[in-house]
Amino acid sequence: MKRLDGKVALITGAARGIGRAFAKAYLAEGAKVAIADINLEAASQTATELGPNALAVAMDVTKQASIDSAVEITLQAFGQIDILINNAALFSAAPIVEISRDDYQRLFDINVSGTLFTMQAVARHMIERGQGGKIINMASQAGRRGEPLVATYCATKAAVISLTQSAGLNLIAHGINVNAIAPGVVDGEHWDGVDAFFAKYEGKAPGQKKQEVGQAVPFGRMGRAEDLTGMAIFLASSEADYIVAQTYNVDGGNWMS
Ligand SMILES: NC(=O)c1ccc[n+]([C@@H]2O[C@H](COP(=O)([O-])OP(=O)(O)OC[C@H]3O[C@@H](n4cnc5c(N)ncnc54)[C@H](O)[C@@H]3O)[C@@H](O)[C@H]2O)c1
Repeated sequence: MKRLDGKVALITGAARGIGRAFAKAYLAEGAKVAIADINLEAASQTATELGPNALAVAMDVTKQASIDSAVEITLQAFGQIDILINNAALFSAAPIVEISRDDYQRLFDINVSGTLFTMQAVARHMIERGQGGKIINMASQAGRRGEPLVATYCATKAAVISLTQSAGLNLIAHGINVNAIAPGVVDGEHWDGVDAFFAKYEGKAPGQKKQEVGQAVPFGRMGRAEDLTGMAIFLASSEADYIVAQTYNVDGGNWMS
């Protein structure tokens, strides 16, 4: 018996990176997985690579109609949703005096509104079905404290931690556990983008920031997406039934709280 046998998961932003690793790990534990992403082509490729229990679904978490249709398509294909991972997010960096309203709005639309309204859509289904569920939000060490060049992203991730608390307290009445994972620095295409921002604003050579943050992790290296899958499986399983409204750091020791 695998830990997620018979379960259906919807994972946003699962075409690549951490979301893709979550999808792969959930499939290995017996779940069926909707690979929901704004990039349908990449999601389709990922679903093909991950096998017949993975389904690519077009989803833009900033658009209510797209959230609703992604939930509907998943329900039509798999009949239920037991697990949601709100994983889609965008990063940007700039000194305070250079932050634009457009960039601020874009990050809040994806990272915060996207998380809240996808939670809402899936929670409505879970409540109607009456069998509870698990919702996992992707926070970050960035949500634990500010950073000089990362004000907007840090604020969005602090909001994700707060939403996890409120939604966790509200939805546990329906047997829905809402919790979050706060990664530290995880290697991949996302961090290639982060590195480019620091190259621009701190005058570093390409790859230098990545090397520095990796060396600064108490564990001794940057995280890999696979370092996070154990927590994602645990929080989605019945072993986590009594865990409510928490955010867990999985970051090699970067942050203690
Ligand atoms: N990589 C890290 O170091 C790190 C650290 C802390 C937290 N996180 C968080 O973990 C999560 C996954 O990060 P990652 O490194 O895999 O990111 P990533 O950039 O590699 O992947 C993000 C995915 O989200 C998709 N996406 C973007 N906008 C979308 C939208 N509007 N609707 C639907 N999908 C959309 C992208 O197409 C992409 O496939 C994010 O929430 C991120 O903030 C990452």
